[in-house]
Amino acid sequence: MKKDTTTITDNNTGRQLELLLRRGTSGPAVVDIGHLYHELGYFTYDPGFTSTASCRSGITYIDGEQGILHYRGYPIEQLAEKSNFLEVTYLLLYGELPNPQQLDAFTATIRHHTMINKSLERFYDGFYHDAHPMAIMMGVVGSLSAFYHDSTDIRNPQHRELAAHRMIAKMPTIAAASYKHSIGESFVYPNNNLSYCGNFLNMMFSVPSEPYIIDPVAEKAMDVLFILHADHEQNASTSTVRLAGSSGANPFACIASGIAALWGPAHGGANEAVLHMLEEIGKVDNIPAFLARAKDKKDPFRLMGFGHRVYKNYDPRAQIVRRMCHEVLDSREQHKDPLFELAVRLEEIALSDDYFIEHKLYPNVDFYSGIIYKALGIPTQMFTVMFAIARTVGWVAQWMEMIAEPQQRIGRPRQLYDGPGRRDYREMNDREQA
Ligand code: CMC
Repeated sequence: MKKDTTTITDNNTGRQLELLLRRGTSGPAVVDIGHLYHELGYFTYDPGFTSTASCRSGITYIDGEQGILHYRGYPIEQLAEKSNFLEVTYLLLYGELPNPQQLDAFTATIRHHTMINKSLERFYDGFYHDAHPMAIMMGVVGSLSAFYHDSTDIRNPQHRELAAHRMIAKMPTIAAASYKHSIGESFVYPNNNLSYCGNFLNMMFSVPSEPYIIDPVAEKAMDVLFILHADHEQNASTSTVRLAGSSGANPFACIASGIAALWGPAHGGANEAVLHMLEEIGKVDNIPAFLARAKDKKDPFRLMGFGHRVYKNYDPRAQIVRRMCHEVLDSREQHKDPLFELAVRLEEIALSDDYFIEHKLYPNVDFYSGIIYKALGIPTQMFTVMFAIARTVGWVAQWMEMIAEPQQRIGRPRQLYDGPGRRDYREMNDREQA
C-alpha cells in the first residue's frame, strides 16, 4: 500500500526526507515533522502558529473557510438552539451528550461545588475597589491551588475530575464576588435551586434586603452566550492552559494562566474593547473616519470585534449572537439602543468596504456579545469575565484530554536565535561611555 507521506528536499545537501502525513476525521492533514531536526538538523519557523497543529484533539472542530464550528461533532447552531450550558459542558468533558440520569447526576455534582472557602473570601479585601475583575479572577482562581489539596495530583484521574468540577462550579461564584467587591456590596452565596446562569445572575444582582426575580430572557441569553464561548480549539488561552499544564502544573494554576491570556484585547478582551470603540465612534457619521483609521497601516487602531485568525468567513457564533441581540433588545424595549444601531451600521459599511472584503474580515463572536451583556445589565468591565466563566469548560476539557494522553510530554518550542554571537565579558572600565 502507498504510504501516506510527503517528501521534502534539502536544496543545500540534496537530501530527501519522507515525512508522515497524519489525517484527522476532518480538516487538512498535518505533516509530522517530529524527526525533522534529528534527520536534517532544521527546526520549523511559524511565529503565531499560522500553519502548526500543536496537538491532537477530539473536542472541537473549526472550518474557518466555511464558517463551521462543531463541539464533539455537533454543530454549534444546534447546540445553541436545543441544548443548555451544563449539557454542553458534559459533552465537552466526556465526549457524548448525557442521558437524563447522567445530566441530573452531573448537575447535582456541579451544584455541590458552587461554594468557595470562607478564607478565600478574604482575598478580595486585598484588592482595591477599582481593581479590574479580570485581575481579581486571575489571583483568586490561582489561589484555589492553595485550598484543594485533594484534587491537585494530576496523575490521578479522580483528582483531575474533581478539580474540573470544582472550577466549573466555582467560577460564577468567584466572578460575581469580584463584581460585588467592586461596587462595595456583600457577596451573595450561591443558591443551588437555580440554574447555572440563574444562580450567576442572582449572585450578581440580588441584595439581602429585597427579593430579586430572575429574568428568564436574561437567563436564556446568558446560557446561549456561554454555550458559544465554551470552547474554540487551540486559541491563545487554551494553548496557554495546555502549555502550563504540560509541565505538570496543578489545574487551578493552569486555568489562572488561561485567564491571563484571555484578557488581551486581541482575544477575550475584545468584547470590552468593542463597547469602548462603539462609544468612541459615537454616531453613524463618524464611521468612515474610524474605518479609514482601521485601514491605515500607520495607525494602530483596529476595528475591534472584526477579523479572526481562523475564520475567513462569518464567525458562526457571531451570526447567532447577532440574532439574539435583536431578541434581547426587543424583549427589553431597548431596540433603539443607539450602540446596537451603530454596530449594525458599522457592520454593513465594513462588509461592503474593499479592504474588509479583500482581507476577509468579518464580525467575530465578540462584536455583538457586549451589546447583549450591556442590555442584561452586566457592566463593561465584566464582559471578559463572562467569557472566562464559559471558556473554563473548554480549558478544563482540553487540559484533561492532554493529561490523559499516554505520550504526554512537556511543551517546549524552539526558536530562531538572531541575537549577538559569542562574545567576552567586558569589565566596566572597558565599556563605551554614553
Ligand atoms: N481591523 C483592521 N484590520 C485588520 C483587523 C481589524 N480588526 N484584523 C486584521 N486586520 C488586517 C491586518 O492589519 C492585516 O492586514 P495586512 O495583511 O494588510 O497587513 C490582516 O488583516 C491580517 O491581520 P493579522 O493581524 O495578521 O491577523 P491575525 O490572524 O494575526 O489576527 C485578530 C487575528 C483577531 C487578532 C485580528 O483580526 C484582530 O486584532 N481583530 C480585532 C480584535 C478582535 O476582535 N479579537 C477577537 C477575536 S474573536 C474572539 C476570540 O477568539 O477571543
